Amino acid sequence: MTMSAQTPQEQILGIVNNHWQSCCVGAAAQLELADLLADGPLHVDVLAERTKTHAPSLYRMLRALESTGIFTQPSPHVFANTPASECLRRRLAGSNWAWIRFTLSAGAPVFEGWRGLMQSLQNGRPGFDQVTGQNAWEHMQTNPQTQTIFNQAMRDLSASISPAVATSFDWSRFPIIADIGGGIGSQLSCILDTHPSCRGILFDQPAVVAEAPEHGRMERVGGDFFEEVAVLADAYVMRLGSSRLVGRGIRWPSDEREKRRRERVAPDGGGVGDPGNARVRYGQVDGPEHDGDGHGTGAYCCRIPRPV
Ligand SMILES: C[S@@+](CC[C@H](N)C(=O)[O-])C[C@H]1O[C@@H](n2cnc3c(N)ncnc32)[C@H](O)[C@@H]1O
Repeated sequence: MTMSAQTPQEQILGIVNNHWQSCCVGAAAQLELADLLADGPLHVDVLAERTKTHAPSLYRMLRALESTGIFTQPSPHVFANTPASECLRRRLAGSNWAWIRFTLSAGAPVFEGWRGLMQSLQNGRPGFDQVTGQNAWEHMQTNPQTQTIFNQAMRDLSASISPAVATSFDWSRFPIIADIGGGIGSQLSCILDTHPSCRGILFDQPAVVAEAPEHGRMERVGGDFFEEVAVLADAYVMRLGSSRLVGRGIRWPSDEREKRRRERVAPDGGGVGDPGNARVRYGQVDGPEHDGDGHGTGAYCCRIPRPV
């Protein structure tokens, strides 16, 4: 017997009712259940005790997640990790934990932003800004925990992309490479590790660069790129959301030396939001999500002044 195709009604109901899945994944991440199971299976009563939750309710949630392949029950009421639930582990390479927390926690910018969807549709302004009265960056400046989770999420999302960006291009042509809005330097340190002759400058908000792990050849500079990208380099990298901002008023260095160098750059290669007629290079390393605006998983934008 062949399975009949989903009806349109079933398709819609699936989308609506499956909302429970993201709710439960969010709760499991918040309770750090996958980390509690890192050393092996545990009875639900132990999990409930360690997470200060109601054991029968926790059991029902774990059973629900088990039905989707997240966690498994090797014996009655005893739960263990699966490859999917391993992604919820906080300190594991390639973890989704931080992104889940940033996306699904009340108060977190993505979660709250959706509450502003209707307003956003009506006036085109970001939902989060309208719901909270500040933009996500301002919000994170006064919520350091959320900022840290965001930085970790960016680092984790970078993990699969950074090596490809580092090897897809001969970065050794550039003695100094600056990553603008480079977060905690995951991409830049990967480029520097791959190209030992290069030095790097990580430029991001002061609180963000302060969280960047040390790298012997990476200088950290805190600032606001709408005020001025106060660094001079041979190549500028902007990746993920940062590259969207190229056309939205990033102010490039005002240093006279840089200005003169720009004046000598031939005007044939100007690109999106590129004030200096330097070349803008967009690369698509992975995934189909490049939207022509330099944004998308695996997209990177590199603004490379020509040699003078
Ligand atoms: C979407 S994240 C991308 C992070 C990093 N490029 C990566 O690929 O992982 C955007 C970055 O821009 C930074 N940012 C936002 N507004 C900024 C500003 N006005 N000045 C400097 N950095 C800013 C944020 O702190 C954040 O690290």
